[in-house]
Amino acid sequence: MAKILLAGGAGYIGSHTAVELLHAGYEVAVIDNFMNSSPEAIRRVEQITGKHVALYEADVRDREAVAAVFRAEKIDAVIHFAGLKAVGESVKKPLMYYRNNIDTTLTLLEVMEEFGVKNVIFSSSATVYGEENAVPYIETMKRGVCSNPYGWTKAMMEQIFEDAAKADPALSVILLRYFNPIGAHESGMIGEDPLGIPNNLMPYVTQVAVGKRECLTIFGNDYPTKDGTCMRDYIHVVDLAKGHVKAVDYIMHQHCVEVFNLGTGTPYSVTEIVETFERVNQVKVNHVYGARRDGDLAEFYANADKAERLLGWHTEKTLDDMCRDSWNWQRQNPNGFQAAE
Ligand code: NAD
Ligand code: WQD
Repeated sequence: MAKILLAGGAGYIGSHTAVELLHAGYEVAVIDNFMNSSPEAIRRVEQITGKHVALYEADVRDREAVAAVFRAEKIDAVIHFAGLKAVGESVKKPLMYYRNNIDTTLTLLEVMEEFGVKNVIFSSSATVYGEENAVPYIETMKRGVCSNPYGWTKAMMEQIFEDAAKADPALSVILLRYFNPIGAHESGMIGEDPLGIPNNLMPYVTQVAVGKRECLTIFGNDYPTKDGTCMRDYIHVVDLAKGHVKAVDYIMHQHCVEVFNLGTGTPYSVTEIVETFERVNQVKVNHVYGARRDGDLAEFYANADKAERLLGWHTEKTLDDMCRDSWNWQRQNPNGFQAAE
């Protein structure tokens, strides 16, 4: 069976993707420097699946270290998850974001070229649609003007992949634009484990519910939406992971340069997330309404038809599943992977 290299595979989305790839019969190798993750996540992936993951601790910017992995493993396709992803931090430390995100991409592409590996799938983001495209976002729209350096790194990396594919007609590229991944594996053994104060909504909600933080601030309730709070396309991370398996199946069978939205197509408001979380889990989430957060859009969600049409992928999990599984993970691991390290 084909072997897939996950760069940044110990992280939130990479670890869930590793599980689904192993279930589907693929072999998996991971390179990660654990700057935002723990090797424990990969141990748990092995426990869940009963299968082995070839794990390499290395910086994906380190060309020699990455080449050593390609020499040791016969890689058929690469999925590039490795990157920094905190929007607010990227505004304060833009150079760190450009350096890490762009360099990892260039290094991977260079080493792939050196070893003749021709299939790559990239973790892009709905953020590349920018501020001016109308919702729902569809892949035929042009990339927009991003509101922060993190978003620009994604837009630039998409361009880099497209240019590399133009220059090398044998190179196949799939750009996956994720919407808002939440939830966790149903076992509760792996999940999202952010460093410090969470930037994203769901980990903040679960940390308030478990008593680690006092109160969630809902950023703005005066948006032009049904209840005044922002609306997003939340997608269960296991559905998202299965989207990667479909993308790997696809790229292994034909040459392609394609972009796919991975979302559900249905937006929910922040208030709906909090209310659903409280109802499904029978737990209270203290919250207050506060000021808008800079750069937030009122609403965005996917047109996910292309992924259904070409990849045969659609989401299966409900918002109840997302809230239940996020809580199950947090409750079983109040300190994330830390306690197990
Ligand atoms: P994550 O931080 O959990 O995972 C990223 C992984 O990359 C981590 O394990 C980190 O240690 C590793 N990494 C970062 N820089 C590295 C380097 N130079 N060398 C080696 N390893 C490195 O994030 P995630 O939520 O799993 O996101 C995965 C990818 O998907 C990222 O590229 C992110 O930008 C993108 N994405 C995430 C979301 C989201 O909301 N989670 C949405 C859209 C896109
Ligand atoms: C969701 C909603 C907040 C925290 C970001 C990136 C995007 C993609 C996914 C990577 C918003 C509200 C949040 C809180 C709140 N990532 N919120 N209180 O901003 O939609 O998207 O992550 O590519 O590029 O921009 O996600 O989880 O931060 O916020 O009210 O404490 O929750 O205002 O409406 P966002 P998020």
